[in-house]
Amino acid sequence: MNAPAPRKILVTSALPYANGSLHLGHLLEMVQTDIWVRFQKSRGHECHYVCADDAHGTAIMLTAESLGITPEEQIKRIQEEHERDAAGFLIGFDNFHSTHSEENRRWCEEIYGRLQANDHIASRDITQAFDPEKQLFLADRYIKGTCPKCKTPDQYGDNCEACGATYSPTELIDPVSALSGAKPVEKQSTHYFFTLPAFTDMLSDWLASEELQPQVANKLREWVDGGLQEWDISRDAPYFGFEIPGAPGKYFYVWLDAPIGYMASFQQYCDRVGLDFAPWWQEGSDAELYHFIGKDIINFHGLFWPAMLQSAGLRLPTAIYAHGFLMVNGTKMSKSRGTFIKGSTYLEHLDPEYLRYYFAAKLSGSVDDIDLNLEDFVQRVNSDVVGKVVNIASRCAGFLRKGFDNTLSPACAEAALVQEFIDAGDGIAALFEAREFNKAIREIVALADRANQYIDERKPWVLAKEEGREQEVLDACSVGINLFRVLMTYLAPVLPAMAEKAEAFLGLSLQWTDLQGPLLNHKINKFKPLLTRVETEKVEAMVEASRESAPAAAKPKAEPTPKAEEESSTIAFEDFAKVDLRVARIAAADHVEGADKLLCLKLDLGDEQKQVFAGIKAAYQPEDLVGRLTVMVANLAPRKMRFGVSEGMVLAAGPGGEDIFLLQPDSGAEPGMQVK
Ligand code: 2FM
Ligand code: ZN
Repeated sequence: MNAPAPRKILVTSALPYANGSLHLGHLLEMVQTDIWVRFQKSRGHECHYVCADDAHGTAIMLTAESLGITPEEQIKRIQEEHERDAAGFLIGFDNFHSTHSEENRRWCEEIYGRLQANDHIASRDITQAFDPEKQLFLADRYIKGTCPKCKTPDQYGDNCEACGATYSPTELIDPVSALSGAKPVEKQSTHYFFTLPAFTDMLSDWLASEELQPQVANKLREWVDGGLQEWDISRDAPYFGFEIPGAPGKYFYVWLDAPIGYMASFQQYCDRVGLDFAPWWQEGSDAELYHFIGKDIINFHGLFWPAMLQSAGLRLPTAIYAHGFLMVNGTKMSKSRGTFIKGSTYLEHLDPEYLRYYFAAKLSGSVDDIDLNLEDFVQRVNSDVVGKVVNIASRCAGFLRKGFDNTLSPACAEAALVQEFIDAGDGIAALFEAREFNKAIREIVALADRANQYIDERKPWVLAKEEGREQEVLDACSVGINLFRVLMTYLAPVLPAMAEKAEAFLGLSLQWTDLQGPLLNHKINKFKPLLTRVETEKVEAMVEASRESAPAAAKPKAEPTPKAEEESSTIAFEDFAKVDLRVARIAAADHVEGADKLLCLKLDLGDEQKQVFAGIKAAYQPEDLVGRLTVMVANLAPRKMRFGVSEGMVLAAGPGGEDIFLLQPDSGAEPGMQVK
């Protein structure tokens, strides 16, 4: 194998919003990036992997407000959670920071200053929808109303979920603020713009010269050819972010400071470990810079970001590596099907390396979506990793321990076979390099099949019983262990914890650059199980734990539902028939400390009491509820909420806020009665 010349490589994953937990979609990207980074390190390159939380914006401000905490507290909590969950999946960030940091503020101000000095910042007044109650400007997704085309009510922003029409939010019939229910008014304010059209030629050249994925290049070319628009980079107070220097009450739009967060995290890392920052980011840098992202944020990374860097006199990304979306069992992740799986929920049930392996087996260099098929997941991991790779070592280790003091033979009986495995490394490395992980895994598994076939042919378990054939047992098992070592070296970027156990067993480190020839006369250690089989029951338990019940009849209007989580709302009759609706008497109703929408109800069903948290605080005083009858879903699986366990759901109707009406049965009803 030829040793590759060392390269300097800086790698990032997209910064997750500090507004929610990591789910398997985030982890697809982090695992993809992490495998690539570990691979580069194993090949002897200087590679650094940085990330951060994306901590600014209106949504984070509103979440904090609804939780009754400051945005700073909110982002701190989430950052701890993100770091813990990422570590749980063995994501080896060299640094994880936050965009709400001094390093980021400094770099934002520096870059903005350079953009201004180069005349790439324009300002003008624009008119936008404004919520007179909440006193803030409303982004499209915070306005809802009736679709102007098909008249479906409750449509968010600028497109209709029902008929697919697109329009301007000002065309919505009876628009209201999704935050307060107030009718938006139009209001003017001054905004700052980045003059993107000035970069049309530069971006065309960049697109032509870079090795972009064809789908990404096509998309970017379409935008450039269609004519670029100036980009609005400011937001009015109240906004959680950095105030723009010289523009009181104006803040940098979250998407301006987010990619600068890559630099901020690297800056913090350099300061921490004593690395020189400048050579990595200056124009003409000989370091490589890669951004791993999802296909939904190509415009930010492929247009705005390179143009900003160019204006600021900084280096451009070497490439942008976009991946597709994660599907589960062939469809969009769904809360009601239990396939919207949080990283922490996965880790409560399953080993992270199962998922790392499965993702690797599915990921390619394209932007195609990836399907996590849970049956295939169990089968693949058990068959390939446990059944094939681990099996090689476990079949050989016992004989070496019993008869040969855990020492491999002094001469390799199948030097050509071991060399063939080592020689396959260049092709496998090329596949890892091109992010064709699925093809790399296919080659590795094919080699594992060959190794098992070799052991099957030698049959050390038969030889071990025959007199005078010790040398053959030693030879066969030593070859087996050598083949295992090569395969584990290739798999180490994918399965780092298993590789660590294999290193302890083999008594050496599994560096790609160390694969020079067979291990001879080498002492190994006691074999311990490297990975156990995936159990279907645990996968089922994870899905069950991720399943969320259908929404209540009336949902208090709060924040818009994230699009990714929406799905068809019809249910089969059989599903409806499972719902046990009962009359309940409200025995107690109390405020919930720290929750601004919830009341805690004790519901008397005649023969039992249930505790339910209901989002009806804006509509009812607790004391007015006690003694009233209502209708509840009595057979809802208990749900652990932040404030306690909720054991059901009360039925209510109305547009939300103060206008939520608990459904009440006709007089004559008794607690516990079934509602038909
Ligand atoms: O789409 C997102 O989740 C963003 N938070 C990604 C930001 S990536 C980068 F630009 F910071
Ligand atoms: Zn419509």
